[in-house]
Amino acid sequence: MRSAAGIVAGAAFFVFFGSCTARPPDPTRVAVSAVNPHRDEARGILESRCGSCHRADLPTAQGAALRVFDLTSLKWEETMSIRQLWSAYDRLEGQAAPREEIVTFGSFVEAEINLRVASPPIQQK
Ligand code: HEC
Repeated sequence: MRSAAGIVAGAAFFVFFGSCTARPPDPTRVAVSAVNPHRDEARGILESRCGSCHRADLPTAQGAALRVFDLTSLKWEETMSIRQLWSAYDRLEGQAAPREEIVTFGSFVEAEINLRVASPPIQQK
């Protein structure tokens, strides 16, 4: 037969370890809630320089390009990995875009990385 002290110790054990098995946060609820403050400006920059292939509503659009990002999508950047965001920065720079555009797009990429680190997406390419 168990002593009263044993029952109390058992209850304490349960309370202590029971609290350690708290379930991890539901991944469907850790979506990025903050919006990148440079997103619309960055979209405008890409639309004029990259839109011919990366806009689904244009006849010149290319399937492989749209799979990376589609500027007609509200959250156009969500399909891009961090590597692809920097690749976009490099491509913009390679097109000899004006300095302000490159700086703005760089701010966008940095803010995007910070947002993703603060609230990682479920899958990262
Ligand atoms: C002439 C059509 C065309 C234009 C213009 C274009 N792209 Fe693309 N882009 C593509 C295609 C097709 C792919 C998919 C194949 C590939 O990766 O090259 C792609 C892929 C990419 C990728 C993914 C690369 C990777 O390593 O995964 C990035 C980033 C990208 N484009 C950025 C840009 C940016 C930024 C511009 C404008 C400065 C631009 N693209 C302009 C056709 C284009």
